[in-house]
Amino acid sequence: MHASVCDQLHDLVQNAIEAGASCVRVMWRDTGRWLEICIADDGCGMTAEMRERVADPFCTDGRKHPGRRVGLGLAFLRQMVLETGGSWNLESEPNMGTTVSFRLDQTHWDVPPAGDVVSAIAGLMAFEGEYDLVLTRATSRGRYEVRRADLREALGELETATSLGMLRDYIASQEEALQKGQNHGRHDT
Ligand SMILES: Nc1ncnc2c1ncn2[C@@H]1O[C@H](COP(=O)(O)OP(=O)(O)OP(=O)(O)O)[C@@H](O)[C@H]1O
Ligand SMILES: [Mg+2]
Repeated sequence: MHASVCDQLHDLVQNAIEAGASCVRVMWRDTGRWLEICIADDGCGMTAEMRERVADPFCTDGRKHPGRRVGLGLAFLRQMVLETGGSWNLESEPNMGTTVSFRLDQTHWDVPPAGDVVSAIAGLMAFEGEYDLVLTRATSRGRYEVRRADLREALGELETATSLGMLRDYIASQEEALQKGQNHGRHDT
């Protein structure tokens, strides 16, 4: 079972990258009561049959994990969201990409904790591969945006310990400004 919303987000972005996405857009909005997350990718997309099947925990494409016949990510996420009074939407077309969005009621006692937001965002930037990722964080007090391509230009390889440390410090400063309501508009590295 997943420990935090950050874990769920990690899995959804991993799905997008595994689907061959060259660009993943993540919107992560916290309005106090509601946590709204949307992940849109331009990967391989799903057929109508696959869209129906992803609600089923015994659904995986059979290629990712040879020998394993279950995929747990989307099914558990959907179940958790619906059981806690939230809402969920999946749009996907073959060769067009996939958009998964959900809304969580943070006042519901069964909603998992958000988790370590700074580490989670740094982790989303540090998967292997040539994808770009544009992440927007928003609250009622402001917003900021980070783009993987900009971070790579500034820091080089993001997977090294030094780069990851700098990346975490940068995200932490953006989060701190966001919590203080000092962060408006786009902020680049
Ligand atoms: N963004 C996406 N684009 C295209 N197909 C997707 C996407 N997300 C999920 N899928 C399809 O839905 C299936 C189920 O996804 P899910 O995350 O539930 O399990 P999994 O990725 O197969 O396994 P696990 O998450 O346990 O590694 C995937 O195998 C894949 O075929
Ligand atoms: Mg998955």
